[in-house]
Parts: sequence; structure tokens; C-alpha cells
Amino acid sequence: MGGGSAYTFLADTHTHQPPSLHHRLVMDLRPFITRKEQLRTGVKFIRDGHLFYQPFILADDVEVGEGQNLHDEYDKVTGISDFNVYAPQQDVGDRKQPTDLGHFRKCNQEYREIYDYIADQICMHAGGKLSDLTFAEIGCNTGLNLFNLALRGAKSCRGYDWNDLSNLFRWMNNLLGTDVRFTRGIYDNLYHRFKDEVQVPEVDIMINTVFTNHQCDPLQFLAFLCDRARKGVFLWALIHPGLSDPCVVYTAEMRGGYIGKRQIIPSILQ
Ligand SMILES: C[S@@+](CC[C@H](N)C(=O)[O-])C[C@H]1O[C@@H](n2cnc3c(N)ncnc32)[C@H](O)[C@@H]1O
Repeated sequence: MGGGSAYTFLADTHTHQPPSLHHRLVMDLRPFITRKEQLRTGVKFIRDGHLFYQPFILADDVEVGEGQNLHDEYDKVTGISDFNVYAPQQDVGDRKQPTDLGHFRKCNQEYREIYDYIADQICMHAGGKLSDLTFAEIGCNTGLNLFNLALRGAKSCRGYDWNDLSNLFRWMNNLLGTDVRFTRGIYDNLYHRFKDEVQVPEVDIMINTVFTNHQCDPLQFLAFLCDRARKGVFLWALIHPGLSDPCVVYTAEMRGGYIGKRQIIPSILQ
């Protein structure tokens, strides 16, 4: 996965790189968090349970991400906030923090590379100039896919999630100088649409990663995605590591990849 240059940059994410290398460093927010107030706000997002899943580095001693739990298959985890935040000097609520910092960082680094790989694959297969293309992601969480694309020059990016992450998106946009939009919305598996009249307008490319495993009717959801995608859908679906056959149909020229024990299927379904 990834190109040589990506690895070169990614290997440096624990050093302070200038923001000019932003598109390789977006999840390492240290160059962008320059004021105490900005870090305080980030820590509050952690404490409030908004920032923990996607892998971000906020400061030398503040890092979040689910990488270790995914790698260790949730070993010793008893609650949703276990082992996904390292911030020993901060008030981040009652949670089990990782004891092996090297392992925690390494796993999150690998997880960060997956998001970079996703953005690179989308750029590679998008079939046009990124600056002409519009994107949306349902179940966007803290917006990593979208911020990656915005920093690579996407025309517009909008995320939807059932948690209200609008303040977090505002904070990220201010840090990064982006304009990624957020709409709170609950995808309803019974009626196959968003609740409360929330509309999801058509975009060029719909992104969906690690979401269908949460839905009881994923095929209906895939139809919903495709109905709103003018050019394509990027889908990353978790599948059981024991399965040898892909669960999702994808066209011949598209390649899957293997990362650790887990298979990923990056696909633009056109
Ligand atoms: C496992 S996370 C994946 C996030 C992101 N796509 C990624 O790959 O990093 C699933 C996200 O979907 C959201 N979510 C789950 N079910 C949802 C639903 N029915 N409607 C809206 N959001 C939902 C969760 O809040 C969470 O942010």
C-alpha cells in the first residue's frame, strides 16, 4: 500500500513538519495547533467523547485513535473509551489509557496510513481533476477522509453523522484552513433514508468506510449511496478476516490490498 514518498513523509509524523507538507500530515495536528486554547478545545472534544476513534496527534503527549484496539482485536477492552486516548497530563475523563506507548503509536500510525491510502486511491481513480469534484461521506466520524480530500484540493466535501460533530468540524476547519461541511443526520435502516427530513444531495463521489458493518440492511444502504453518486462510490467494508472471498463486487481493474491480518477492498464502484 502507499507509495515510497508517502512512507517517507509518514515516517516523520512524530517530528514537527512545516504545514506546507499538510496533505501528508493532516492527522498530525501538531504543526497546526499553535495556541493553548486550540489544544484545550481539542482535549474537550476528547473528554466529551467526540474525538477518539480516528487517529490524530494533537500534541507530543496527546494522541487519539482506535488503531491499537483494531490491531489487538479489542484485547482487554471493556468500554468504548478504552485504549484509544493517550493524554496523561490532561483531563480526558475516566478511561483506560494505553500502557505501551510505542505500540499505541505504531498501531495508530498504521491506521493513519490507511486513511492516506484511501485518499490517494480516490485521487487516482476519481476520473477528473479533484478541484472539479464534490464528495460526501455518510458516517464520517471526525471527518478524516473529507479533510484529507479537502487538503488535496477537492471542490467540496460534506460529512454526515448521527453524532453532532459540527463544533469539531469548525475547529478542524479553523486549524487547517479548509471548508468541510457537516450535517448531523441519522440514517434509518427501517425506512432507508435519513430521519427528520435530512436530505443528502447528489455529489460526484460518495465515500463510505467502516460503516456498513453497523447497518442491519447494508444492501439498501448501498443503493442509497449509489443513488446519490454521479460518478462513483468509494467503499471500504470490513469483512471477517477468516473469509477468503470478497463480500463486495468490484470491477476487474480495481485492486484490493492487505494490511496486517485484515483485508481492505478499496473500490470505486462505477
Ligand atoms: C466505525 S465509524 C467509521 C467512521 C469513518 N467512516 C471512518 O472510517 O473512520 C462509524 C461512524 O458511523 C456513524 N454512524 C453509525 N450508524 C449511523 C447511522 N445510522 N446514521 C448516521 N451515522 C451513523 C458513527 O457515529 C461513526 O462515526
